[in-house]
Amino acid sequence: MQICRTISDLRQAVRLKRSAGETVGFVPTMGALHAGHMSLVAAAKSANDAVVVSIFVNPTQFGASADLDNYPRTEEADQALLTSAGVDILFLPSVDVMYPAGAETIVETTKLANMLHGQVRPGHYRGVCTVVTKLFNIVQPDNAYFGEKDYQQLQVIRRMAIDLDMPLSVHGVPTVREDDGLAMSSRNMRLTPQDRAAAVVLSQSLAAADAAALAGHDVAGIETAIRDTVAREPRARDLVVDIVQALTLAPIDGKPNGTIGIMISAIFGPEDDPIMLIDQREITL
Ligand code: PAF
Repeated sequence: MQICRTISDLRQAVRLKRSAGETVGFVPTMGALHAGHMSLVAAAKSANDAVVVSIFVNPTQFGASADLDNYPRTEEADQALLTSAGVDILFLPSVDVMYPAGAETIVETTKLANMLHGQVRPGHYRGVCTVVTKLFNIVQPDNAYFGEKDYQQLQVIRRMAIDLDMPLSVHGVPTVREDDGLAMSSRNMRLTPQDRAAAVVLSQSLAAADAAALAGHDVAGIETAIRDTVAREPRARDLVVDIVQALTLAPIDGKPNGTIGIMISAIFGPEDDPIMLIDQREITL
């Protein structure tokens, strides 16, 4: 695996692949890699000749600086995983490479970024869109892969790629779960054993939502199923539930039909070091 730390090195490495006629798949990450990321890499490998992965903990998508400082960094283990998965190129830029002095341009989806989860994390999706646009411009892939777990992020990036005529396909890859159902996340490694055990309540609440939706409940009934399940776990707090139309993320009134997205988030851990976990499920009725 070739490691590139500058934009010019990365462009040169990708150019060599392209001149050999190879297609390029791209998986942007913030590192602390787990099986969820590796499923994105596997999807990229199965559909492209060459795979580029980036690891960059993007400061512009974090609100509190404590969250940025606490974000897990496991560079050596990440490199070993990517090498054994057969990744061709790893892009490891520094903050100065991505945001040189004087940088001021931002990219934002005006509606999708500021609804739902975007309301509790102002500026988050603007930071994501800005860095993903930069990464797309640097790597120029044919295909890019994102987890379905961050459902809103996936829809925001899809919208951005369409609106800005980006010449690539954006692919969503299903969430990978631990044996007990907890969605894999780099944040899980920050949980105490007690909070780790409690966090399973999120996927359990989505199973309850699934059952309520299939039993014909309206949106209020589905949300109640989620809230009742999470309420049984005192370690989970500040639950946010959004039940929306897929793709547009438009709110739904009454009885849902077609494909709906259910997005939840809850906080675990101490007040002074909160850990936000998210999960999601898409249901077709
Ligand atoms: O999903 C992530 O890990 C990040 O938001 C991404 C897409 C790599 C942008 O920093």
